[in-house]
Amino acid sequence: MRVLITGSHGQVAQTLARVAASSTEVSALAMGRPALDLCSVPSIRRALFEISPDVVINTAAYTDVDSAEREPQKAFELNVNGAAAIAAEAAQAKVPIVHLSTDYVFDGKKSAPYTEDDEPSPTSVYGLSKLQGEVAVADANAKHVILRTAWIYSPEGRNFVTTMIERARQSSKIEVVDDQIGSPTYARHLADLILSIAVQVVSQPAASAWGVYHAAGSGGVSWCGLAQEVFAVSREIGGPVAQIRPINSSQYPTVAARPQYAQLDCAKLERTFGLEMPDWREGVRDCVRRLLADESD
Ligand SMILES: NC(=O)c1ccc[n+]([C@@H]2O[C@H](COP(=O)([O-])OP(=O)(O)OC[C@H]3O[C@@H](n4cnc5c(N)ncnc54)[C@H](OP(=O)(O)O)[C@@H]3O)[C@@H](O)[C@H]2O)c1
Repeated sequence: MRVLITGSHGQVAQTLARVAASSTEVSALAMGRPALDLCSVPSIRRALFEISPDVVINTAAYTDVDSAEREPQKAFELNVNGAAAIAAEAAQAKVPIVHLSTDYVFDGKKSAPYTEDDEPSPTSVYGLSKLQGEVAVADANAKHVILRTAWIYSPEGRNFVTTMIERARQSSKIEVVDDQIGSPTYARHLADLILSIAVQVVSQPAASAWGVYHAAGSGGVSWCGLAQEVFAVSREIGGPVAQIRPINSSQYPTVAARPQYAQLDCAKLERTFGLEMPDWREGVRDCVRRLLADESD
């Protein structure tokens, strides 16, 4: 099965490519700018013609949540028009699309995990652009699986987990927000899940349930709780550790408002595809171990 992954330099795309490389079922090619630019329809057409994939996985997005408030047109251009363009071109080629979205489509006012039936109400430009992107992808390609995920981390690149380890090297005490709850998602777990869904929608297209799904690490925790888990694992293996002081979001102002509570209920994913995301703590354990092992190599 041939898979085309967009946004090749990104965190999820790189993890997908790595996981796919050891798969016997999937042959994946990750492409990024300039060869595959979602704002250039000719480049999308060329990529689809050259690769002739069985399925497209769209990870490319404008993901800088705070900058999106300052330059909304760029966020909408990619997250809505670019997403619609790749979905439409995939439809022309009779190819399904797996597209990524976010928990930031919700306003965070709930106190129980969000299901796909909950009404989205984004509080940021990024969240609104991703929500409009979901609608645009669904309109452009009937064969779509839209996965709302959250708080992605991996041993590579810059994300919350790598930042915590880095900051613990520089300081013995750090402040971390304790009043935002979400579902931390390990990029490798997400990549496994995305590839399993891709295989299912290609091998059993008639049975596939096209639509929107929540796909995040199982369970929920605050940023502060996540940092505590990172340091608990790091301590076990002799890595850097810092003392954490919990703070409120008001003490860590950001340009874009984040949802206070955005834990995702992933039961629909399990019911439909028979796939379950592991507990977020499992991902943290593997991520921190790999991160510190890679550094000591
Ligand atoms: N990270 C999270 O915590 C999180 C949470 C929820 C949902 N998501 C969603 O998950 C998906 C993947 O996120 P990620 O963390 O992997 O994002 P990422 O690391 O920021 O990667 C996004 C990629 O999109 C590429 N891109 C930008 N403009 C493009 C264009 N015009 N054409 C083609 N590619 C372009 C970027 O390429 P360049 O390197 O060329 O700039 C970058 O490599 C996104 O849809 C995001 O909204 C992420």
